Amino acid sequence: MRTVSEHRFDGEGGDSLAVSISEVMKEDYGLYVWPCGICLGEYVWQQRHRFAGATVIELGAGTGLPGIVAAKVGARVILTDYKLYPEVFENMRKTCDLNNVECEIQGLTWGEWDENLLAMKHPRFVLGADVLYDSKDFDDLFATVSYFLANNPDATFITSYECRSGHRSIEFLMGKWKLCCTKLVDVCDILPPLKQCAISSSILIAEIKSIRPGV
Ligand SMILES: C[S@@+](CC[C@H](N)C(=O)[O-])C[C@H]1O[C@@H](n2cnc3c(N)ncnc32)[C@H](O)[C@@H]1O
Repeated sequence: MRTVSEHRFDGEGGDSLAVSISEVMKEDYGLYVWPCGICLGEYVWQQRHRFAGATVIELGAGTGLPGIVAAKVGARVILTDYKLYPEVFENMRKTCDLNNVECEIQGLTWGEWDENLLAMKHPRFVLGADVLYDSKDFDDLFATVSYFLANNPDATFITSYECRSGHRSIEFLMGKWKLCCTKLVDVCDILPPLKQCAISSSILIAEIKSIRPGV
């Protein structure tokens, strides 16, 4: 069953944004909005001055809420997800149409290099909402993130994740891939009260950079 969820973002100066997201009620992880997507979407909105005119790649985008917010505030956005997931791409396309944004949509499986990935312009921001949930994928995810950040000292990976487990393996892999966390935000400190009520889990947002920017 397909539904459309509505997401509202309010600014202190009275400006606001409404985003519609197409969702399909199936078990596939990429077909509905996860709490981490809502939190990262809010973070992008609150940090919107950083995104205007920037190139953004969203990894494991699923329904793509953070990427769509970035596109609405003026970023050039590539929404990506696991390559063999046509229904997710079809759903992303519907969401782009609903919001009148022209995001590029690409298959990108973490840890795999193909012509599409090598042709992508290196982004200013890599976004990933709830992409750290299965520890067997962490190494591949960080390999891809490290590739995008390595040659760009300004490039930042911004990820929202639930505090489930696996912290030790994340720290180890960050070291392995020469990445470091430059900012850690508890979403309780940034979410407006109405959104806080809807989020029952403990979610953090990390900003991550490469420590080998010249490589
Ligand atoms: C928990 S869902 C989060 C979806 C969306 N970011 C959100 O927060 O609503 C994880 C997403 O990562 C994608 N994913 C999982 N493993 C992947 C891989 N190896 N390569 C690329 N994408 C992957 C899934 O298809 C799914 O869309």
